[in-house]
Amino acid sequence: MAGILAIMGGCSHKTSNTAAMASGYPDPESTGGRLFKARCSECHVPPMPSSRTADKWPLIVDRMQHNRIMNNFPPLTDEEHREIVTYLRKYSAGGA
Ligand code: HEC
Repeated sequence: MAGILAIMGGCSHKTSNTAAMASGYPDPESTGGRLFKARCSECHVPPMPSSRTADKWPLIVDRMQHNRIMNNFPPLTDEEHREIVTYLRKYSAGGA
C-alpha cells in the first residue's frame, strides 16, 4: 500500500512506465494485451497477469474502475473492461 501510494505521488497521467512496460508481459500485441498496457499503466506499473488467480481479476478490475472514477480518469468502456479481464484471466496463475 505505502509503495503504491509513493508511486501514485509521482503520477503525472503520462506513460512514464515505458521502460518497465517494455518487456515481460505475455502476448503484448493482442487486443487485450494492448488495452492492458494502455489502461493499467496510468497510475502504477501493472502487475503480471500471472501474479493473481483467474477468479481474482474481475474483482480487481472492478476496483480499478472505481479508482479511475475517483481520480477523474475516463472509465473503461464495457468492451475495454471485458477485453482486459479476458486477457488477465487467460494468463493468470490459473484457478479459472
Ligand atoms: C486510476 C488509477 C489506477 C488505474 C488506471 C489502475 N489502478 Fe490498479 N491500483 C490503483 C490504486 C490506487 C491501488 C491501491 C488501492 C487498491 O487496491 O484499490 C491499485 C492497486 C492495484 C493492485 C493491487 C491490489 C490487489 O488487490 O491485488 C492490482 C493487482 C492492480 N491495481 C491492478 C490494476 C489493473 C489490472 C489495472 C488496469 C485494469 C489497474 N490496476 C489500473 C490505481 C489504479
